[in-house]
Amino acid sequence: MSPPRLSFAGFRAVPPAQGGRAGRGWWDANAAEYLDEHGEFLGPADFCWCPEGLREDDAHLLGDVVGRDVLEVGAGAGQCSRWLGAHGARAVATDVSAGMLRAGRELDRAAGVRVPAVQADARALPFADASFDVVFTAFGAIPFVPDAARVHAEAARVLRPGGRWVFAVTHPIRWAFPDDPSARGLTVTRSYFDRTPYVEADDAGQVAYAEYHRTLGDHVADVVGAGLVLDSLVEPPWPAGHDRTWGGWGPVRGAKVPGTAIFTAHRP
Ligand SMILES: C[S@@+](CC[C@H](N)C(=O)[O-])C[C@H]1O[C@@H](n2cnc3c(N)ncnc32)[C@H](O)[C@@H]1O
Repeated sequence: MSPPRLSFAGFRAVPPAQGGRAGRGWWDANAAEYLDEHGEFLGPADFCWCPEGLREDDAHLLGDVVGRDVLEVGAGAGQCSRWLGAHGARAVATDVSAGMLRAGRELDRAAGVRVPAVQADARALPFADASFDVVFTAFGAIPFVPDAARVHAEAARVLRPGGRWVFAVTHPIRWAFPDDPSARGLTVTRSYFDRTPYVEADDAGQVAYAEYHRTLGDHVADVVGAGLVLDSLVEPPWPAGHDRTWGGWGPVRGAKVPGTAIFTAHRP
């Protein structure tokens, strides 16, 4: 599928059903381009949490994964799950986009391992209650749905008591700044409190892409509302010498404001 021609890109309200559905089509159409751009940085079987380059190998946000049942939602091409499989976890990668999962199969072949992968919307997971020790996502699902509370509720449902839910998102403060990695991206131009999503629409007015903003308080409310206990908020600093830009992320802004927020929580 080739990407649709866009006639609108900016901030505007979206009917909830259209916004949630757009994610799947956009990621199907753009899987190859996305991985051409970012695949090398992510690595075929590496676990990178964010554009700052924080690796699970160093961060240990999921705890001890050996022998654990681990579910990745919004897994994209499953790089993190592939890494987990190689580190002793029973990992399952899920994503709403068949295009991203197909790209994952190619990475499986290249890496010589096969990560179990299931096509699923993170808001309606096809797994029984209490079937995982850990559920996580690195920038998957949550930014692309209008009703993120459902993602948190599903994570809580499929977790066993004591299990961890860890999710990385764009740091909410970034919403107030233009998506520009240069110094121009350091001037506040939007209200941090304005939740109007960023939208790309095609010639027919159909929403092709929608990304949703949530404040720190919104994320905390979603976690607590799902019956989970918030344990930590990690704001990875931009490492010295790391000069790779990713969209609006890069060393110039990374030196001044956080770009990623990683929440860790558990089911009591
Ligand atoms: C930025 S990628 C993150 C994946 C991976 N960590 C990476 O960095 O490539 C976002 C992923 O979220 C997936 N996604 C979007 N909406 C989703 C939903 N409702 N349920 C599950 N996955 C979704 C997309 O298909 C895409 O693969």
